[in-house]
Amino acid sequence: MNRLLPLLIGAIGVLLLATLMLVILPAWQLRTSEPPEQLKPYTAQQLLGRDQYVANGCLYCHSQQPRSTGQTLFDTARGWGRASTPGDYFYDSPHLLGTMRTGPDLFNVGARMKSRDWHLTHLYQPRAIFDWSLMPSYPYMFELKDQVAEGDVVVRLPESLQPEGGKHVVARKEALDLVEYLLALDRTYATSAQELDKRDRGYDRRAVEASTDSGAK
Ligand code: HEC
Repeated sequence: MNRLLPLLIGAIGVLLLATLMLVILPAWQLRTSEPPEQLKPYTAQQLLGRDQYVANGCLYCHSQQPRSTGQTLFDTARGWGRASTPGDYFYDSPHLLGTMRTGPDLFNVGARMKSRDWHLTHLYQPRAIFDWSLMPSYPYMFELKDQVAEGDVVVRLPESLQPEGGKHVVARKEALDLVEYLLALDRTYATSAQELDKRDRGYDRRAVEASTDSGAK
């Protein structure tokens, strides 16, 4: 029993060290005091769309972290945009990095898929666009209406997917918000040397010195 105190102190010490190294230090290293100039804060509607993104589990299949060619050769070749830097996430709290890539990375989807109609059709039924798609459909974000009212956004569908009885598929607010958010995902602007340095080297000053040395030769 007299060993209990050292054991306790040891255990708490290990926990504190782990929290420091894995939580506090990385957060401090990657802190960004200023957002990149071209990055716009989310609008109220885009933030609602972001909530839909989280609530519907888009995160389980889509990452938001294009990687550099040093990490993988494929992300840039796939057209997912330049590797992200800490500042790109300035307005994301919490960030939605994701770990799974069952579907494409979406960090810059607004830059490559700019059509609201395309996104609405795709959300209503991904198989309307790609018959091989394994993305779930989200029919509850849409409603079937006999008559289209003013201001309704009707989803464009192929003949085979048109609802029966001449009804129309109209996007609910959830779908419109979510698409506003998707269209806002665009970090294709050029990033600063400082941000690149932070991303690629963290606080490893030796690497900077070594590369400056070799550059001088
Ligand atoms: C079960 C996995 C899965 C889930 C969950 C999922 N997706 Fe997907 N998503 C995919 C796959 C696979 C593709 C590629 C085929 C396609 O375009 O349908 C894709 C493609 C996309 C694309 C087109 C991207 C591109 O570059 O072509 C968008 C946009 C998208 N998903 C948005 C969403 C949103 C928004 C949600 C949540 C409401 C979501 N996805 C949920 C698997 C998923």
